[in-house]
Amino acid sequence: MVRAVIAIHGGAGAIARASMSAEKEQHYIQALSAIVTSGQTILAAGGSALDAVTEAVRLLEECPLFNAGKGAVFTHQGTHELDASVMDGRTLDAGAVAGVRRVRNPVLAARAVLENSPHVMLIGEGAEAFAFEQGLEQVATDFFSTQARWQQLQRALSAEQMVLDHDGAAQTSGDPIDPENKFGTVGAVAVDLHGNLAAATSTGGMTNKQTGRVGDSPIIGAGCYANNANVAVSCTGTGEVFMRSLAAYDIAALMEYGGLSLKEACDRVVMEKIRVLGGSGGAIAVDREGNVALPFNSEGMYRGYGYVGDEPSVGIYREE
Ligand code: GLY
Repeated sequence: MVRAVIAIHGGAGAIARASMSAEKEQHYIQALSAIVTSGQTILAAGGSALDAVTEAVRLLEECPLFNAGKGAVFTHQGTHELDASVMDGRTLDAGAVAGVRRVRNPVLAARAVLENSPHVMLIGEGAEAFAFEQGLEQVATDFFSTQARWQQLQRALSAEQMVLDHDGAAQTSGDPIDPENKFGTVGAVAVDLHGNLAAATSTGGMTNKQTGRVGDSPIIGAGCYANNANVAVSCTGTGEVFMRSLAAYDIAALMEYGGLSLKEACDRVVMEKIRVLGGSGGAIAVDREGNVALPFNSEGMYRGYGYVGDEPSVGIYREE
């Protein structure tokens, strides 16, 4: 029997220890640990990987520390547009939503698309109408707003730059616009006691993005992929580069066609191929044997994982 495990991420970027207060660090550690524990509890009870990753990402969306759901970044126009996806490695069924503004938990909308629609991706008002028909919670468009994100937008507007969801330092003009706040996509991957794999990803995108911009997070094969034959992957980082690289699927393909191990495939994509195209970020991945990889080419990545029966293991910086 496979050793069931869940891994999560809360974004990658220039997360320097020096710019993080001890109090804030504790908030991140506690949030990551609690969410890994929730996933472990589902898996320990014989729950599916699909349920574990959906619930982990829902909890990440509910936590304002992370750029997904409550606490999502602002668009250039001062709105929020949220993207999410989920994939079941057992059936290769997938669901995704993009550009939703009033669905409290975009990952639940993605899951509803997977389970109750003939489609894979719904966008904008059509996605919202579908989610509400499915009984999902509707919120006011400012439900997702926080003061920290609003200030982040004002800094980006005055610098006339778009801040990547996770890493202001990746911008071309040198200094990060927002060195004290590094935010990113969230995601989860898992293998359950039955050997089934699943992945889920959710994001507010990037601060000051053009309305209508969609990144890798809701694109199956780019920011999210799961296949029982090999691996489940959720990505975080420079969305456009992860899309052009089909990063999540590329990890699976390197394993399937190239015979690479989980670690080799993850390193090839995250540490080499994404970098060559000028991208930064990371991925979390679990293979069908229950091996875990958490690679990132940035300074840090909010991350955690936990095998059933073990204590959660969480980290933020590179040297952990
Ligand atoms: N990686 C998330 C985004 O670029 O939207």
